[in-house]
Amino acid sequence: MERRLRAGIGGGEIMKQLVTERLVLRAFRREDFAAVHAYASTVENTIYMPFGPNSEQETRAFIDRSIAAWSEEPLRQYGFAVTRKDTGEVVGGCELSLVPSGNEGEIGWMLRRDCWRQGFGTELGRALLALAFDGLGLHRVFAICDAQNQASFGLMEKLGMRREGLFLEARVPNKLSDAPYGDELRYAMLESEWRIRQEMDAYNALPRHAPSGRRGDPPRVRKEAARRTRKEVRALL
Ligand SMILES: CC(C)(COP(=O)(O)OP(=O)(O)OC[C@H]1O[C@@H](n2cnc3c(N)ncnc32)[C@H](O)[C@@H]1OP(=O)(O)O)[C@@H](O)C(=O)NCCC(=O)NCCS
Repeated sequence: MERRLRAGIGGGEIMKQLVTERLVLRAFRREDFAAVHAYASTVENTIYMPFGPNSEQETRAFIDRSIAAWSEEPLRQYGFAVTRKDTGEVVGGCELSLVPSGNEGEIGWMLRRDCWRQGFGTELGRALLALAFDGLGLHRVFAICDAQNQASFGLMEKLGMRREGLFLEARVPNKLSDAPYGDELRYAMLESEWRIRQEMDAYNALPRHAPSGRRGDPPRVRKEAARRTRKEVRALL
């Protein structure tokens, strides 16, 4: 609890902006309307969503709700406009919403069509998970999507989230379907899984051709291997 308070739940200011390699995630502003409506009003962006394509009024209401949520006490909804560092444009939105227990959160995302498949989803997803686990000290994060939304569950898998279940006929169907219901996938990640993932990423980022020790081993492993080898050599003498 103390950790969460320190991280800003209730205050909020500290977490209002997240910066990744190519993106800045910041609170929505009213002047973002045109950029948000450009993607939220399309079928391609909302085909698997329970809402949309948005009318102008719905997009304005969404932005107003997202802005207002930052003033709630305690703060439960971290809604961000996704902006590109290189152009400054708003190209999407993403969110971390805390469930009432306060120790669990749900994440979600949407990007403008021309920004798909360039790794932006992975970048913003990692930033949301870092906010949840490192920033707020949450125990568990989950995400849900239409079972046909390959891009969304592909992103969840790329982030290292674990498929927890397929819920049949649990949501409204996609907008081109004649079926009365759609199926839903749920993915989740625990804080312990996030820590392991972080260690694995750090390990995989090490140079492949290390000057000494076994190729690609992290320093601790190389040191341990060297110690073992010395011991084995001594045993042979
Ligand atoms: C879901 C969404 C945010 C993904 O963003 P993105 O920037 O394209 O994702 P990334 O480029 O980081 O891709 C991450 C992984 O997801 C998977 N993926 C992404 N798009 C995919 C597609 N069209 N088909 C299959 N897999 C896909 C891939 O495994 C990809 O990893 P790879 O490129 O190494 O193969 C984007 O497609 C989107 O905005 N869709 C419309 C809105 C929406 O459906 N939101 C989700 C609601 S639950």
